[in-house]
Amino acid sequence: PVPTSRLRELPKVELHVHIEGTLEPELVLELARDAGIALPYRDADTLRGRYVFADLQSFLDIYYENLGVLRRRHDFARLAYQYASRAHAGGVVHAEVFFDPQAHRSRGVAVADVVAGLVEGFDRAFGEFGFTTELIACFLRDRPVAEALETLDELTACRAAIVGVGLDSAEVGHPASLFTEVFARAADLGLRRVAHAGEEGGPDSVRAAIDHLGVERVDHGIRSVDDPDLVAELVARQMPLTVCPLSNVRLQAVADLAVHPLPDLIAAGVLVTINSDDPAYFGGYADDNFAVVADAFALDDPALAALADNSVTASFLPDARKAELR
Ligand code: HPA
Ligand code: ZN
Repeated sequence: PVPTSRLRELPKVELHVHIEGTLEPELVLELARDAGIALPYRDADTLRGRYVFADLQSFLDIYYENLGVLRRRHDFARLAYQYASRAHAGGVVHAEVFFDPQAHRSRGVAVADVVAGLVEGFDRAFGEFGFTTELIACFLRDRPVAEALETLDELTACRAAIVGVGLDSAEVGHPASLFTEVFARAADLGLRRVAHAGEEGGPDSVRAAIDHLGVERVDHGIRSVDDPDLVAELVARQMPLTVCPLSNVRLQAVADLAVHPLPDLIAAGVLVTINSDDPAYFGGYADDNFAVVADAFALDDPALAALADNSVTASFLPDARKAELR
């Protein structure tokens, strides 16, 4: 195995992490205790013991349930700072972080408070250890399109400091094409666009995100391997995929790491990046994801450096900062 110290030293950019998915069981319990919320389990390990997932939906059920403890601006600041600290310790120097505004506004938490809290936590991380971030607001594809449009209006009204928009939650049965207008409006506002696709859905779902939403990166995208023409197109366009190996294993999107399509995608010339998705649930942060793929596919140092370099290329960082990171 590659020494984890070397993996940590490799400057990495994280492009696929949901801030709500960094909510560790310990923090769920602490926030619940502070807010006087009663929980059906007494300790963090009991909660962690429930993290056995059959598919994406079984994970999403627990993910949405747990984020009920995030209520005040300060809670989001703590969450953001804690993630930044852990990511930084693993060699992540910049992160483009997803959040789910609809999952909070539906509980009566103002979008402006969510964003202000995240910005507060990330500003502290930048001040203390130079960790940089951008925020990407994701729309929930299993909620009505009208709600996504309202949410985009709220983000605009509060001048939310976001670099772009994304699309997440249950993929199958909720086609990207439904969100064409939402993404067109986001583009008009000057926002960058990404979307989850090809996690549980097939190659057509990836094509829909590219063709209807105009995305600049595809989140997951692993099922693209089932369509060689699509893979060729991804290569020709140098369309980045934000792959999350531990997530794919834990959500049973792949049977086992050994049969993960990552090596095939790399061999085909796809611009692949390695990311953590929901690290508090799937057993590891960005460095852990690098470590497991290095081990499973016997990736040498140049191969790992190439993956880290891809994360710089695929980021929304200005060219000057990209050059600094190489
Ligand atoms: N997939 C889709 N939606 C999500 C995920 C994921 O892995 N995590 C949080 N929302
Ligand atoms: Zn995700």
